Amino acid sequence: MTSRIIPVDLFDLVVFGATGDLSQRKLLPALFHRDQQGQIPPGSRIIGCSRRALGSEEFTAFARKAIEDHVAADDRPPEVMQRFLARLSYVAADAAQDGGWADLERVLARGADRIRVFYLAVGPDLFGPICERLAASGMVTPRTRVVIEKPLGKSGASARALNETIGRVFAEPQIYRIDQYLGKETVQNLMALRFANALFEPVWNSGHVDHVQITVSETLGVEGRAGYYDTAGALRDMVQNHLLQLLCLVAMEPPVSTDADALRDEKLKVLKSLKPVAGDAVSQLTVRGQYRAGAANGGAVKGYLEELGAAASRTETFVALKADIANWRWSGVPFYLRTGKRLASRVSEIVVTFKPIPHSVFDASAGPIAPNRLVIRLQPDEGVKLWLMIKDPGPGGMRLSHVPLDMSFADAFNVRNPDAYERLIMDVVRGNQALFMRRDEVEAAWDWIDPMLEAWSASADLPKPYTSGTWGPSAAVALIERDGRTWYEDQDL
Ligand code: BG6
Repeated sequence: MTSRIIPVDLFDLVVFGATGDLSQRKLLPALFHRDQQGQIPPGSRIIGCSRRALGSEEFTAFARKAIEDHVAADDRPPEVMQRFLARLSYVAADAAQDGGWADLERVLARGADRIRVFYLAVGPDLFGPICERLAASGMVTPRTRVVIEKPLGKSGASARALNETIGRVFAEPQIYRIDQYLGKETVQNLMALRFANALFEPVWNSGHVDHVQITVSETLGVEGRAGYYDTAGALRDMVQNHLLQLLCLVAMEPPVSTDADALRDEKLKVLKSLKPVAGDAVSQLTVRGQYRAGAANGGAVKGYLEELGAAASRTETFVALKADIANWRWSGVPFYLRTGKRLASRVSEIVVTFKPIPHSVFDASAGPIAPNRLVIRLQPDEGVKLWLMIKDPGPGGMRLSHVPLDMSFADAFNVRNPDAYERLIMDVVRGNQALFMRRDEVEAAWDWIDPMLEAWSASADLPKPYTSGTWGPSAAVALIERDGRTWYEDQDL
């Protein structure tokens, strides 16, 4: 099966932070893939911009290397590489200095009527200064959009301040707050599963669902990002955005349509229904951890403090928490969330566990009856598994087994799964904000997170140590087992 390509309008995309890690690993390869698929119209331009004094040829060489490193050889025929590299140019400009901005203006003036996208792949401290420069030099046209990367602030207050600053230059329909989790194929499949099938929605509530687990585990450590990471931690880096967005998509009411605002209105209602976790409840309902040396990805690895090069740090590299949604549909159904670095395996998945059957008609010899589970795997091996009880095949009486109805999307569709950034960048060009966070959503998510951060910083406790390559501190296991439940572990992992 081949995927359907919907062409986009002619555009100019300016990437600020063009020589940085995100540009190299994600943005340039994603744009290349879309070009290779024929989605980028002839004449569309990609303009790299950063403080570094590079020539366009040097930037082109940087981009070629990024593509060679991150796009499979079969997917980069020479003619596509040539076409793609011909779209690139580079302008050196520093948000703190006047030089370069007039050059950028001159380049863009040659496409004044085109869709114009400014992608801010830079730290949040530069969002304001860059937006102001763009406004001052008249580069913000009615067809202009701005993309901002997370983290948007460090707390509700700082997110509001950033939103204010950006909002002085761009109207909300021009602002694209990116969360790459919303661009992942299976996340959208979650919506298809819920709203394009009659089967699930009638049982998608506290009458039938026992609890929900959302796990985003990584085997990587903080790599070269310890400087940033130590100021953020897992709660800000992952839970405030990615995990809460997943929770919203599981828990929201059916939107009236898939229009951006219809969808975001429903997600916002979920965020506003989250029961506050504050004060003493924080130590009961959350667990934070920090990895120590151990084994990961087939080798010995250092602990967080050694990677950071510090004797101590209060930054968590793991969080597990129990959330409650105080609304009609979900009252009494806990949502257990966990995420961390240097865990036993890399997996992102949502597990919906249904309530046990009310009464068994089988003899004890049939064995125990496990509850139905719907497992939505985002990565790796995207797919959906529905765990059911069936009869063991063959003679010898009635014995029951818990087996998955297993659908791996790679096997089912046999297509390369596009990276989230491919879809999201094209959505920006198309002007579709459905998979981007609206200002009020981001602020509501911070409002729920802030009291946890405050309680942690007021507490004398440190994050609990865990050995790299394990599933985090034992307190995370206790968090769910106290409720008579266990974390889901897939036998395939
Ligand atoms: C980013 C976080 O947003 O998501 C990283 O800043 C994390 O710390 C990454 O590693 C995980 O994303 P993915 O798409 O690889 O699951």
